[in-house]
Amino acid sequence: MSWARIGILTVSDRASRGEYEDEGGPAIKALLGEILVSPWTPVMAVVPDEQAKIKAELRRMANAEKCCLIVTTGGTGPAVRDVTPEATEAVCEKLLPGFGEQMRAVSLTKVATAILSRQTAGICGKSLIINLPGRPKAIGECLLAVFAAIPYCIDLLEGPTLETDESVVVAFRPRQK
Ligand code: MTE
Repeated sequence: MSWARIGILTVSDRASRGEYEDEGGPAIKALLGEILVSPWTPVMAVVPDEQAKIKAELRRMANAEKCCLIVTTGGTGPAVRDVTPEATEAVCEKLLPGFGEQMRAVSLTKVATAILSRQTAGICGKSLIINLPGRPKAIGECLLAVFAAIPYCIDLLEGPTLETDESVVVAFRPRQK
């Protein structure tokens, strides 16, 4: 079984300056640890809310680090410095708007301000990139809302076979690999 490399990118001016400790990246790593039963390695980074730096890190994770999946946290809202969706769209050849639609739909049942997140997803080379909002609580709410479709998407990108703990997420594969 091939080892999956998964990028976890925290986008935050303050976390990147060390003004507070990054909570989002470790929360994503812990949640993926609960979801996945197949072997994987995290590739973690923290960047400020600057499009050029976000794009460079997404490309590095996709191309040099060969991550099959890259999950970002932060920078999806309407504030002036929030540019994670723009950076994601800029590096992706294909967009998968259904991920953002589903995450917002589920999040709106929990918090009215979910409508403020412009989170999206797309394909950069052979990597699936998914944006999550910055609040640690949002990470579980959003990632669990879409994870069932992620292993099949990675199959279609010819990546490693992601197997889930079915007590956490049941992956749906319309066709077996
Ligand atoms: N989605 C979920 N599931 N839970 C949340 O608490 N917070 C919202 C929204 N989406 C939230 C959520 C808020 S308050 C904002 S401003 C936007 O995500 C954007 O957050 P970001 O700029 O940190 O990415």
